[in-house]
Amino acid sequence: MPKKSTKHSSKQSSALVAAVEKSVKSDFEVIYMKHQDYVGWPKNTPHLYQNIARKNSAAIVGAALGDEGKGRLVDNLISTFLKKPGIKKVYLVRFQGGNNAGHTVEKDGVKLALHVVPSGIFYKDVIGIMDRGMIIHPEDMQTEILYAEKHVGSLKGRLFLSNDAIMCSDLERAEEQVNKIKEGKSKGGTGRGIGPSYAHHYDKTGLRIADLLGDDWQEKLSSRYDRYLKEFSVFNVDLATSEVPDFFTTKKTGISTVRTVGDKKTFLKRLADTRAWIIKRKLVTNTFLIHQRISDDKTAAVVFEGAQAAGLDAWIGTRPDVTASNTSAYGIREGTGFWRIENIYYIIGVIKIPYTSSVGARRMPTHIDLPKNLSDLPKNRSNEQEWAAFVRETAHEYGTTTGRPRDINYIDLSLITYNARMAGVETLAITHADIARETDTIQVCTHYTDKKGNLVYYQPGLSFIADVIPHYVSLPGWDGTACQKAKTISDLPRNCLKFLAFIQKRTGFPIVVATTGPDRRNIITFPGYID
Ligand code: IMP
Repeated sequence: MPKKSTKHSSKQSSALVAAVEKSVKSDFEVIYMKHQDYVGWPKNTPHLYQNIARKNSAAIVGAALGDEGKGRLVDNLISTFLKKPGIKKVYLVRFQGGNNAGHTVEKDGVKLALHVVPSGIFYKDVIGIMDRGMIIHPEDMQTEILYAEKHVGSLKGRLFLSNDAIMCSDLERAEEQVNKIKEGKSKGGTGRGIGPSYAHHYDKTGLRIADLLGDDWQEKLSSRYDRYLKEFSVFNVDLATSEVPDFFTTKKTGISTVRTVGDKKTFLKRLADTRAWIIKRKLVTNTFLIHQRISDDKTAAVVFEGAQAAGLDAWIGTRPDVTASNTSAYGIREGTGFWRIENIYYIIGVIKIPYTSSVGARRMPTHIDLPKNLSDLPKNRSNEQEWAAFVRETAHEYGTTTGRPRDINYIDLSLITYNARMAGVETLAITHADIARETDTIQVCTHYTDKKGNLVYYQPGLSFIADVIPHYVSLPGWDGTACQKAKTISDLPRNCLKFLAFIQKRTGFPIVVATTGPDRRNIITFPGYID
């Protein structure tokens, strides 16, 4: 029997609430008592766009609040496509975001933290594209490419940057700090200048990579520097001594470091060096032509790699604590200019189980209170704190880009259902299925009510989230170690499979793949994954 959390139970249960509770109970009984726990694409049902989609194309986007482990799925898609007869290469396309994103990728014992370079670049048969919807800080990109090359060899001729990608410089990064002063806030973005760069793209004052490569680049950037100098002085901020993240030193030392923007000469000199390097590398191209090539090339597969997640999307995320891009599958249209969502055969949204992590100012309805430093946990910690601490430690829930400990939340099916639908995904991929213990009872948020007990549906926005009351069903845990050892669906602990079936049923999105441990072999595919 599902247990309703007494902590959050509402007094006046409306007919709608009763109907939801009844259907939760019924799903629980069907899956947990009658053992109808099929997971995967419904049998004999065609794919959504199978008649018009390009064969061997797939997109991975985040369907929770970021950091779902999208890199692992991208990695698996690449190797799956490369094993298909006739497929010789995979184009891997990043279409939004910048180095606010972070993927840790591992191959042959080498661990790489990548931010703008597509995560599957380890594969020799992958051609990476940093496309027009991305934010590119040229010096940071150069640092990252050189760092990646140290580990994976030369990327010349198989990594390209769109001429039209949006340029970010130290000016926009410093502006992000000034915006915080303006708003009187210490928190906000990742400090990578993402918000201001997209904002200036839309207000038409921003620059693109093409502007950096043009003959008049110095004029453009010099007058931009002067404009920022003037604008900053209104807030009594000195541009030259403004601090911005120093990615170069951070990458070299592993210690997060800042530098100053510097005077105009210093600012332009840095850019001049990187500009010369970019030109020499022949890194920049008109990606439209690559996409045209891809659509004609039957020996190639194409994978679109989303960064961040639907919950961080500028339109459908937890506003205002969101990133500034279109993180959903629909973002592929604007971020490549070329591909429509119907052109893509598999569109997969990624979520974690049995929890949802979050990093940022937002406090989700299913948030569990944990100190930043787990050694500060009180001795008389609650059961939920003990569980959340186990999750954070075992799943290593610390940001790749910022190193910040992530918040741990009970999994929230209201949020996930909304996100998956709004992000345009067709199926779900699950990560972290091994972060579980047999002794646990796992709380799953099935719906919300308002303070009067009325059923309310998820809406993106921090003020909405702050006011809802989550309602839970308790589901049994499973053996995470057994999960890691599983090679086939039938090896999975039955309660893990049932948990997946429950999520599939409640969200309406078929689950087609699940990662079951840290190793790239720890992955189980279900009917409807790549065929
Ligand atoms: P921005 O993208 O730097 O403007 O950051 C806006 C918000 O999105 C902040 O709360 C960040 O912590 C969050 N954010 C941005 N990128 C990521 C990501 O890749 N994973 C998780 N959170 C992110």
